[in-house]
Amino acid sequence: MTEVIDGNAVASEIRESLSESIDALAEAGVTPGLATVLMSDDPASETYVSMKQRDCEEVGIDGIHVEIDSDAPAEELYDTIDELNADSSVHGILVQMPLPDHVDERRVLRSIDPVKDVDGFHPENVGRLVAGNDRYRPCTPHGVQKLFEAYDIETEGADAVIVGRSNIVGKPLANLLLQKAPDGNATVTVCHSRTEDLEAKTRNADIVVAAAGLPEFIDGEMISEGATVIDVGINRVDADTEKGYELVGDVDYESAKAKAGAITPVPGGVGPMTRAMLLYNTVKAAGLQEDLAVELP
Ligand code: GUN
Repeated sequence: MTEVIDGNAVASEIRESLSESIDALAEAGVTPGLATVLMSDDPASETYVSMKQRDCEEVGIDGIHVEIDSDAPAEELYDTIDELNADSSVHGILVQMPLPDHVDERRVLRSIDPVKDVDGFHPENVGRLVAGNDRYRPCTPHGVQKLFEAYDIETEGADAVIVGRSNIVGKPLANLLLQKAPDGNATVTVCHSRTEDLEAKTRNADIVVAAAGLPEFIDGEMISEGATVIDVGINRVDADTEKGYELVGDVDYESAKAKAGAITPVPGGVGPMTRAMLLYNTVKAAGLQEDLAVELP
């Protein structure tokens, strides 16, 4: 029987545990604060940011939301970040990606105070993660690790193939699974658009992580019997539905499920974990900035 990994359930447990940490912080007079910044007209980005704000409200994090016109001068975003860096009630800053072309994304990531960088995208935090001394693990890769932990999926000694080399998922996850640590110790292969004979790589894997942003790209033929399949993709594809689209992952779910030992669905797999780990990083950020010990799940 294939185990269907329930990201909603695991995320819910993490949120409950974080609520307790937030209560403990409140007793010390601290409310964690997360600022989300949206400079985009992309409906998916708008949805993601509003869900992140709703999550904050639910667990007792103060959410601040800043919207900037997508055609406003880039300086408006840079100034907003400076203001949020200086605001001591803001412990975490998340600038939703992607940004408009006229904005220098690297400058944005560099300009967020690294202690408030709850995405873990600042070069200092990327360097720390690669060196095995992480401060904030990027939310999606960390969420994937938490799913492995919750479902007793051993990474130690496993052959893990990650399909996709983004700075948000593929690269940080590869580094985390590579770390000499109980939730790492995997043999990691990172595949991408120029990989030759992708199937030969994925078929040899104990764990396949699909994070290429290509709808239903990985199918049952490409995985081995009993493999763990983690689908990070959320693709909107045209469909005859009320909204005119449906969400599909990077995995062809039915054929992959027939072969896999465990698989994440879309929605309800990795997505809720990404959101939960943002709350986790925000609580951690509040502890670090207020010099208070916090228990983290
Ligand atoms: N866009 C897609 N995923 C993410 C994420 O994890 N963080 C930010 N800031 N933007 C994103």
